[in-house]
Amino acid sequence: MKNYATIVLANQEISPSIFRMRILAPGFAAAAQPGQFVMLRPALALPTMLRRPFGVFRTGCLPPECDGLPPREYMEILYKVVGQGTKILSELHQGDRIELLGPLGRGFDLGPPGQEKILVGGGIGLVPLFMLGEALVAQGSRVRLLMGGRTRDDILAVTEFERSGVETYVSTDDGSLGEAGFVTKVLERKLSKYPQAEVFACGPTPMLTAVAAICAARQVNLQVSLEAHMACGVGACLGCVVKGAGHSESTPRYLCTCKAGPVFQASDLDWGKATAEAAINCGGGCK
Ligand SMILES: Cc1cc2nc3c(=O)[nH]c(=O)nc-3n(C[C@H](O)[C@H](O)[C@H](O)COP(=O)(O)OP(=O)(O)OC[C@H]3O[C@@H](n4cnc5c(N)ncnc54)[C@H](O)[C@@H]3O)c2cc1C
Ligand code: FES
Repeated sequence: MKNYATIVLANQEISPSIFRMRILAPGFAAAAQPGQFVMLRPALALPTMLRRPFGVFRTGCLPPECDGLPPREYMEILYKVVGQGTKILSELHQGDRIELLGPLGRGFDLGPPGQEKILVGGGIGLVPLFMLGEALVAQGSRVRLLMGGRTRDDILAVTEFERSGVETYVSTDDGSLGEAGFVTKVLERKLSKYPQAEVFACGPTPMLTAVAAICAARQVNLQVSLEAHMACGVGACLGCVVKGAGHSESTPRYLCTCKAGPVFQASDLDWGKATAEAAINCGGGCK
């Protein structure tokens, strides 16, 4: 983990209220694992503004021939404007200064190479699945990505996912893109065909809860990326705890999302009401 005082390389609206920000981050790519996150804060924000957590979408390097400058390593986030912090981020321009802490947390466990992998992303919950898909394809696994959203505006970066070697299946609640209906319907169909697959999911609470129920009923291994509210991102404030499996009033078992997660084995979590409420979506169109 490193604290970068760095700059924004680009910040563009790619879908209504959804932005892609590219940030200069030398050395970040070598350290980042799929599923990890960063804490961000504009350098000129009021001192009272806390950093905000965002999943790492992808990393890359601008070659020197782009603009005569030396090669520049960057990382990208995709984010939805939902409140004051994300509004301030959306107003940043190329060259503006930003503070980045990361990469943070525990990412996805890729599992055995060659095994069928099914990724399920709802809205902005697709973000941590890009690097995961790339890593799984690189290890020789067949990867199917089920992309769900309320409308077509929530379906992000389809071409990039496809170029990375992932097979994509799109569904929207209103049928404006792909199959009409919930992404969980597509998951049930795929699991009937590939019962040995391992599933990875990130998205809104109702979607994650439904995915967990489907996988538990079929005894399919599931990892989920949770997005609880966070203040510090490094295990110091305990503001991000969720209930672990086996939690009870007499034997409390809390897990810190920023240190033990954000990725968990679904079987390690208490999928009761309280955990479901804390397992927030990525602030996306799925809210
Ligand atoms: C590990 C992790 C990864 C994340 N990755 C992404 C990402 O890739 N893209 C993205 O757009 N967002 C992501 N989020 C959510 C993002 O951090 C919040 O949307 C952001 O902090 C909201 O800040 P704000 O000041 O704009 O909103 P606030 O003013 O703080 O809140 C506005 C509204 O959003 C709700 N909200 C605040 N935080 C969250 C949250 N964590 N989840 C859901 N709702 C929230 C509040 O309850 C409120 O209703 C992630 C969160 C975590 C913990
Ligand atoms: S956000 Fe502070 S302990 Fe997790």
